[in-house]
Amino acid sequence: MCGIVGYLGHRDAYPILIKGLHRLEYRGYDSAGVALLTAGDKLNIYKSRGKVDDLERFCESKDVSGTLGIAHTRWATHGEPNDINAHPHFNASGSLALVHNGTIENYAVLREALERHGCLFRSDTDTEVLVQLIDYIRRSTGCSTLDATREALREVVGAYAIALIDSDDPDCLIAARKSSPLVIGVGEGETFIGSDASPLVEFTNKVVYLKDDEIAIIRRGEPLQVITNDNRPSQIDIQELRLSVAQLEKGGYPHFMLKEIFEQPQTIRDCIRGRIIDGRRVQLSGIQDNQEQFASASRIVIVACGTSWHAGLIGKRLIQELANLPVQVEYASEFRYSNPVVGPGDIVIAISQSGETADTLAAIKLARERGAFVYGICNVVGSSIARETNTGTYIHVGPEIGVASTKAFTGQVTVLAMLAVSLGCLRGTLSDDAAAEIARGIQSLPDLISDALSVNDSIKTLSATYTYVHNFLYLGRGYNYPTALEGALKLKEISYIHAEGYPAAEMKHGPIALIDNELPTVFIAPADELHEKVISNIRQVKARGGAVIAIVTRGERSITEIADHTIEIPAAPVCLSPIIAAIPLQLLAYHIAVMKGRDVDMPRNLAKSVTVE
Ligand code: G6P
Repeated sequence: MCGIVGYLGHRDAYPILIKGLHRLEYRGYDSAGVALLTAGDKLNIYKSRGKVDDLERFCESKDVSGTLGIAHTRWATHGEPNDINAHPHFNASGSLALVHNGTIENYAVLREALERHGCLFRSDTDTEVLVQLIDYIRRSTGCSTLDATREALREVVGAYAIALIDSDDPDCLIAARKSSPLVIGVGEGETFIGSDASPLVEFTNKVVYLKDDEIAIIRRGEPLQVITNDNRPSQIDIQELRLSVAQLEKGGYPHFMLKEIFEQPQTIRDCIRGRIIDGRRVQLSGIQDNQEQFASASRIVIVACGTSWHAGLIGKRLIQELANLPVQVEYASEFRYSNPVVGPGDIVIAISQSGETADTLAAIKLARERGAFVYGICNVVGSSIARETNTGTYIHVGPEIGVASTKAFTGQVTVLAMLAVSLGCLRGTLSDDAAAEIARGIQSLPDLISDALSVNDSIKTLSATYTYVHNFLYLGRGYNYPTALEGALKLKEISYIHAEGYPAAEMKHGPIALIDNELPTVFIAPADELHEKVISNIRQVKARGGAVIAIVTRGERSITEIADHTIEIPAAPVCLSPIIAAIPLQLLAYHIAVMKGRDVDMPRNLAKSVTVE
């Protein structure tokens, strides 16, 4: 969380920084700030509570000149979101400005020590501790800002991506990272930095992904220099960026979330491209190149957070059913502190859209330390998780900007379906014909999703009926129990309506007590072997006066007769039905949130990429 942008070059930095902040706003949006070095080497720092638009308004009458600057959009961890806690933070004389993404775990001890040496703190943040520490080391030893930064970074425990400017060294921008992402864009006589590549995409396609414990020294008129925290030169690996500006814009939709929902036929096409051979075989290079590991594995452990964890639950069923391999699904945040029993012979699959989630990253580091083979399923190419895993598969659904995950979820489940088929074939648990049938189903997903999207208008109408309820229950069974969890998560994330997902049959062990005419229940009930049982659950809700919205397979009659509203989706193989059923659930959450006037793309308190514990 938190987004960082930096610029050093020949253009005005301010518009580049502001545009970059808008692109990174998905990472946090409770305050924003910018530091600019003017031609006269004056450091101007402007900060404001609220979104980047608020910062822009605040800066309207200010001097925003300068060709060197850094900027930040914040998701508060230490200290409430206000003007003082907003970044950039600065030293006592106001000559050093620093922006930071991550958390300094030992900040309290460091702050106490600095206070004993006379430092006065203005904010409650861990970041101010870092800038004051750099300044203190510099003052007390007489060393350069760069050396003081190196020294300070060796003292801090935690995660950071930082950018720093110093008015006493007006042609230099320093950036560093550990466990939080930082990308450097190399242009002609200008250099950009960003928490991801989105702020630099229109200026250059040459990027360097900074690695843990590296420090970049960006000096006007000189080539980029990268060193390690212990002052050794690092290899600079310039990569070509494959990202277009169009992918980062709304393309005529009112919200990124709606655009991303409607993009799904294409994103799933991109996700499966080149991975289904002759319409009947699945080929994933991550499996192909590591056949021995997968053939001999005794179990799989999936680690993930949020929506990715829901995809993992569906993956568990897919792998168990198609490859007959036991699968355990863990919240990464719990796994990392549970002294997990994993080791050689185990395969750990980490699922993460961003590839930067701190808990998932820590879980895979632990799994690797214990000898497990780690497979990543990520969206963001070159992300930390993609780099830290032994191998893996990208979902290739393009940048997801809406904070509520939509196209990444369907991409993750699609990859898990391909992975399960591939494992089933490799381990001899799936016949060629059975594999071919699912492969054909996977190939038809883009068309099935297009078909499912046709319910948009009717869901919009239906949403008006439920805009003002306070609670929702989502129920499903089998493959669609995780779909129920995901549907409930979507609604609560963006509409702030309390919603719970449950396995339908568990309803009688508790949630049934809640049912009355004020609690609507969404049943995810496509035709499958448990269909009759789900119908009984629907009757139980209706008998207690609860309203029922049911997602059913087109042509279904029995549920249509008893439910208050039915939403029809096209028939799909049962193991792929969560991908299709997710579409109306995403639309329902979206329309209710819009009708409630919520900020759909940037819901309160959330961030897209959670790089803190
Ligand atoms: C945040 C996002 C969720 C996401 C979760 C895990 O909470 O708001 O949409 O599912 O992080 O993120 P990851 O990038 O690891 O999939």
